[in-house]
Amino acid sequence: MKSSLIRKELLPFLAIFGLLILATIIIDVLLHQFELVWIGRWLGIPGTFLILLSFIYSFRKRKIINYGKPKVLLTLHELLTLLGALMILVHAGIHFYTILPWLALIAMLVNVISGMTGSYLLGRSRRFLSEKKNAYSQQGLSKEEIEKNLFWDATSFDLMKKWRAVHLPITLVFVVLGVTHILSIFLFWEWK
Ligand code: HEM
Repeated sequence: MKSSLIRKELLPFLAIFGLLILATIIIDVLLHQFELVWIGRWLGIPGTFLILLSFIYSFRKRKIINYGKPKVLLTLHELLTLLGALMILVHAGIHFYTILPWLALIAMLVNVISGMTGSYLLGRSRRFLSEKKNAYSQQGLSKEEIEKNLFWDATSFDLMKKWRAVHLPITLVFVVLGVTHILSIFLFWEWK
């Protein structure tokens, strides 16, 4: 039981994070090898763009937009933030010397780990709520409505709520540090 928990829950978690770090190192080495370090300098921009794009899930959830399947948008959120984080890691690995960008980077990594924890908790609550499915079908809801109800039920489940109380402030810290870093780059350019 315990070993299957480790295999099913902990290993994929560590594997994804490990792959992220490994991919960063490989890309960093390749960029140096082929004297393409300048690419790393610019990767911060598409990386930031992908992470911003991933917030489309949040807009859908908070009904700022009404199109797109929530489940698909959440998967997109996970993929885009991981890809964006990879780009920003490569960007950071190459040429950061001052403290602020490092703080922003640490906040991003904490955000990524927190996001992965949320993803795990979501899976857990969805499994737990699967019995609700029967109740909904007894109410005569359509298949699509049942899927949608279950999705939102799972995201509002106990631990998910507690987790969100941590994840949102982490996101705020990351955004503030990231924006300060970006603004300081613009100021630096102005004064040069
Ligand atoms: C730079 C990295 C990340 C940032 C800034 C970020 C930001 C956010 C924000 C702001 C929310 C709340 C959405 C809302 O309630 O309106 C959220 C939810 C979520 N994120 Fe992330 N995230 C990041 C990375 C990740 C990663 C890597 C994963 C998983 C692989 C992930 C999985 C989730 C999940 C499962 C939710 C919960 C869905 C819900 O509560 O409705 N996030 N994220």
